[in-house]
Amino acid sequence: MGTPAQDTQHQHTTLQGDVVTASAPAKVILCGEHAVVYGRPAIAVPVHGIRAQATFTAGSEPGVRVHLPDIDQTWVWPPGPPDHPLVAILEHFAQQGGRPLQGTLQVRSTIPIAAGLGSSAAVAVAVVRVLARALNLSLTPAQVSAIAYKAETITHGTPSGVDNTVIAYEQPVWFVRGGPPEPFSIDRPFTLIIAHSGIQASTREVVAGVRARWQEDRSRYEAIFDAIADLVHRVRDALERGAIEAAGRLMTENHRQLQALGVSIPRLDAMVQAALAAGAWGAKLAGAGCGGNIVILTPKERVQPITVAVRRAGARDIWVTTVET
Ligand code: PMV
Repeated sequence: MGTPAQDTQHQHTTLQGDVVTASAPAKVILCGEHAVVYGRPAIAVPVHGIRAQATFTAGSEPGVRVHLPDIDQTWVWPPGPPDHPLVAILEHFAQQGGRPLQGTLQVRSTIPIAAGLGSSAAVAVAVVRVLARALNLSLTPAQVSAIAYKAETITHGTPSGVDNTVIAYEQPVWFVRGGPPEPFSIDRPFTLIIAHSGIQASTREVVAGVRARWQEDRSRYEAIFDAIADLVHRVRDALERGAIEAAGRLMTENHRQLQALGVSIPRLDAMVQAALAAGAWGAKLAGAGCGGNIVILTPKERVQPITVAVRRAGARDIWVTTVET
């Protein structure tokens, strides 16, 4: 820790007197979901418009009073509740030695939970950033990501690590299971609309459904996963070249493959169709499917009509974000 040279994390924090605030974005899978479970690549990107925010106010009493108003929780560390992801982060910093942590930590988030938007990883990254700043430690994105991953293992068991990586780097990430997530650069910024269907689906169940069908007919499903992998490679190539329209067409093609996997539903198909008819470059379901979100790649000037159209097609919550170079 403490390598100020490569630090980019302080830009996400502010310091006013004894009060430090930090935030971290949501994330969405741009392409490659499901196939990624079978060893193919996926791309995830940050969603800057919805964020988790952490505030640390230095105090004179020993320990940290943790206040989570969104879920109506307050506790004091140490010890804090057993097996709590934020306790893992507090303990990480306590073990670094140096100045003791004393004060109040408040965390709020506008990221919907269980929507495939990385809410737990965003909370973890915001807390890592705020505590590092409060202790005057400069962390690289890789260090922030690694500490947040400790918290993620408590929340999710053995997560892939893609959420904490994309959120800590605030950059598109290329991900293959078992390998280190790889942040990559894009040539031109692009605008995404994320629209929630209002239908909740369990990722675990949807993934299990795909597995059952794969077991019935492996060659058919392996061929679909290969086709998705090919699309994901081409999306990365298009983004790196700034060929945003081409990336959009590939995403729409990815939606067709997800339909073939049996993870779309009429509401998601209707939202995708509505977005395309209203001028989107591409649209697909995002994450597990059978509910949840779609992600739309759009020219900036089409955001308004597309938003209206997908709402008519059944979307509930809608977020707009720009992925920067
Ligand atoms: O909905 P999310 O963002 O949690 O993504 C689920 C992605 C899957 O590929 C369907 C499952 C997985 O573990 O990668």
